Amino acid sequence: VRVALVFGGRSGEHAISAATAAGVMRAIDPEKYDVLPVGITREGAWVIASGDASRYELASGRLPEVTRESGREVAGLAEVGEVDVVFPLLHGPYGEDGTIQGLLELAGVRYVGAGVLASAVGMDKHYMKLVFAGHGLPVGPYVVVRPRDWEQRQAEVVREVQERLRFPVFVKPARAGSSLGVTRVDDLTGLAEAIEAARYHDPKVLVEQGLEGREIECAVLGGRDGGAPRASVPGEIVVDHDAATFYDFEAKYLSDSQARTEAPADLPADVSERVREIAVRAFEAIDGEGLSRVDVFVTPDGEVVLNEINTMPGFTPISMYPQMWEATGLSYPELIDELIQLALE
Ligand code: DAL
Ligand code: MG
Repeated sequence: VRVALVFGGRSGEHAISAATAAGVMRAIDPEKYDVLPVGITREGAWVIASGDASRYELASGRLPEVTRESGREVAGLAEVGEVDVVFPLLHGPYGEDGTIQGLLELAGVRYVGAGVLASAVGMDKHYMKLVFAGHGLPVGPYVVVRPRDWEQRQAEVVREVQERLRFPVFVKPARAGSSLGVTRVDDLTGLAEAIEAARYHDPKVLVEQGLEGREIECAVLGGRDGGAPRASVPGEIVVDHDAATFYDFEAKYLSDSQARTEAPADLPADVSERVREIAVRAFEAIDGEGLSRVDVFVTPDGEVVLNEINTMPGFTPISMYPQMWEATGLSYPELIDELIQLALE
């Protein structure tokens, strides 16, 4: 089976995608799969890349990058050649948002993970919340700031935030990932600057009320043979709040000490079950396929509130998605195999 691993890409999460690809290159079974590494540069050029995983690893302080020199440049998908399945290991816009999925649909190529709609909804934190709420799933309070709102009625936006939300709030680009452009804001004075910072990543911005509680995640895999989606044991992110204000890009990828992850999370059995049930319902709400990581907050009284779904979560070997499956009994190489088999079904 010939598998194209597509990684890098035009989004701000380029380096994380490369690190995910390095993990997959190391873990994929070479007896079973003929791997074709396809890198996309930050500018959008496609290259048949080197399969040397060490070039793309997230070594401390160094963010890996795909450049035109990483391999032989090709004109795009058409010049990649015949493959049985594409594994789009891309995070963020132009990768996790339905665009490459649309290209693959058009070309009639099978691919791992969510389709066009689920990818687009999962990328846009605004529509994601509307879809969750429409399915009766619990989401926190938020305010949407569209370009026209910010450019023409700033004072009203500020008033709306003040009236509808409690501080701290989290200001986020609607379509980005890995916490890029996200700021925690503790009072009104920091709001405008945080909105401008988020607008650098996406003209549409969300202001979300900070939710009190533990940061819990759950990994979902699509069902086999028409069966129900499967949920892993939940995991937990424990942030050292003296070192980091929240689980931001640095705490996620650049620091060994600002946050740690635990899988399984130490939760009462009924709360753990509820997290898993909500994770599967969130996956089904967006019409998920293949895989997703669902992030929730568990409040002090045991309530579960959805934060977001990621249709192509990071799965560097130290990422939560594979760790949670490992803790559930599925090793990293088995997980990769399962994902490709789901795409070939
Ligand atoms: N957006 C990053 C890669 C994640 O969700 O893991
Ligand atoms: Mg996300």
